[in-house]
Amino acid sequence: MFDVAVIGAGAAGMMAAAVAGQRGLRVVLVDHARRLAEKIRISGGGRCNFTNIGATPANFISQNPDFCRSALSAYTPRDFLDLVRRHGIAWHEKHRGQLFCDESSEAIIDMLRRECDAGQVSWRMPCAVREVMRDADGFRLATDQGPIAARRLVLATGGMAIPQLGATDFALGVARRFGLKVVEPRPALVPLTFDPASWAPFAELSGVALEVSVRCASEGGKAAPGKRRGPAPAVFIEDLLFTHRGLSGPAILQISSYWNPGEAIHIDLAHGRDLERGLLDAKPGSRQQLGTALAGLWPKRLAEQLLATLDPEAPDLAARRLADVPDKTLRRLASRIHDWALVPSGTAGYKKAEVMRGGVDTRGLNQKTMEARAVPGLYFIGEAVDVTGWLGGYNFQWAWASGVACGRAL
Ligand code: FDA
Repeated sequence: MFDVAVIGAGAAGMMAAAVAGQRGLRVVLVDHARRLAEKIRISGGGRCNFTNIGATPANFISQNPDFCRSALSAYTPRDFLDLVRRHGIAWHEKHRGQLFCDESSEAIIDMLRRECDAGQVSWRMPCAVREVMRDADGFRLATDQGPIAARRLVLATGGMAIPQLGATDFALGVARRFGLKVVEPRPALVPLTFDPASWAPFAELSGVALEVSVRCASEGGKAAPGKRRGPAPAVFIEDLLFTHRGLSGPAILQISSYWNPGEAIHIDLAHGRDLERGLLDAKPGSRQQLGTALAGLWPKRLAEQLLATLDPEAPDLAARRLADVPDKTLRRLASRIHDWALVPSGTAGYKKAEVMRGGVDTRGLNQKTMEARAVPGLYFIGEAVDVTGWLGGYNFQWAWASGVACGRAL
């Protein structure tokens, strides 16, 4: 009989197992994958953006926004950085507090494996779990390596992003079987797609990138009842990338976590400028074509395409001299450039998503320990829980912090 069985040897699972093992508990770590911690391996372009030094609860989305507070303050980015330093891993800050390994994300995987070794954690991997049962002594797992009995059970099987790497909704299934609620899971940090006919004029801009500010309709004011809403200011100033099927780049990945089907996203293509003022001031006597005037703002092919589509009431705008365009038209154009409203038809799905939003409803969990209130001895940590971080190292910080909170409480 083990003290603890942890299912899922990813970021959160290894952290929880190591902390519990180093406290003297007998821990077994079970994972169905052939290779250890594939998501850590591929993260951050192979260099693992392992935390964000500025992480606060405002960088996380959840139907219960205060839930993450306790775990995040009990184990901070500095705490994880101390661990990284103790293991002699070289790192650097990229931008906006994002910390990456200098060499390879393998260093983080090795570090976690060594921490598990220090806690004498037992491994069952690759090992599929067929059934989870509860009895008077705790939990019994039926696995393809035989039965495992443990007094406590931790679900750390992550989210559904990148199913080709073996991602599953296993934790959500277990939660439902034990009567816990689940916030509807959806792909997040994911490119947004548009219906092919309406996107056709922009598809040829594939590869064009520019800095924009972007927000969701529902995030501008009061959230509609039942719609998820994070505490964060849901306006992101980041790069946007045109693709064949729609929009991607950090700005879009960030806003995708807030987007609900049917809603518009609003993009300011000239953020930080007063375009109306600029155009009206430049207008008197100007022989410059409008297309040329705006080409200073964006790549030329984008300027031409936007002028052709943003203002259908004023055809051939790009070729008209600035001085000849009525003030009213310039004002309308400026306002559309500052607020380009688009309704995506969907997302690129779990295959392209970095994370899953939604998950085990935190209102059924203890925020200090991650234990299910209604099922003593059962814990949920990491991405399987309805706490979704922004792009930029926040999701790993949640995995570490929730793993440590659980590992200390087991
Ligand atoms: P994680 O996914 O790490 O681990 C889950 C484990 O459970 C896996 O080992 C899996 O094999 C196992 N498992 C699943 N189902 C099972 C089952 N039925 N039975 C047994 N085992 C099962 N975040 C960040 O902060 N910085 C970054 O740089 C990146 N980069 C990034 C790139 C890409 C391409 C992706 C897809 C994701 C990221 N992320 C990220 C997100 C980050 O990888 C993710 O949030 C964490 O790995 C979540 O940690 P968990 O431990 O919860 O799940």
